[in-house]
Amino acid sequence: MGSGEKVFVYEDLVKHKDRNDCWLLISRKVYNVTQFLEDHPGGDEVLLAASGKDATNDFEDVGHSDDAREQMQKYYIGEVDATTIPARRMYKAQTSTAATQQEEPGFLFKIIQFLVPLLILGFAFGLQFLGKKEKTET
Ligand code: HEM
Repeated sequence: MGSGEKVFVYEDLVKHKDRNDCWLLISRKVYNVTQFLEDHPGGDEVLLAASGKDATNDFEDVGHSDDAREQMQKYYIGEVDATTIPARRMYKAQTSTAATQQEEPGFLFKIIQFLVPLLILGFAFGLQFLGKKEKTET
């Protein structure tokens, strides 16, 4: 880190998330994109939606070009102290693993939901059949 470089805390981002004052946090670096909102090829709305939080995943998901990565240097204003970034906001993957883990009992439950009425129906038919058989035998 060079001298004079500013270090922010994560909470600072919340104060800079509107059209007249918009900061982005991408890979721990903070960018003031207020002047860039109008010129962003992806539109201003996506940038506003990505402000006030860790926008690293949003930025990377788009697959920005090297040219875009070069352009962003113009807006660089400092870094965020990593210890102030909430873990849940940094690791998006964790939530998606939790979602896949939940899928298994859901699938089993669907099978049971389908099998139970079938078993009851089969049981009822079986009883009816037995009842008829007993009548013909007497
Ligand atoms: C300082 C930060 C950013 C800069 C300098 C920047 C720059 C650019 C540039 C130059 C493009 C044109 C395509 C390319 O060259 O890759 C672009 C497209 C785009 N950007 Fe950004 N961008 C930034 C942040 C973001 C963020 C945080 C999002 C959030 C989702 C975003 C979403 C998009 C989208 C959706 C497109 C359009 C892609 C397409 O239609 O092909 N950008 N951006």
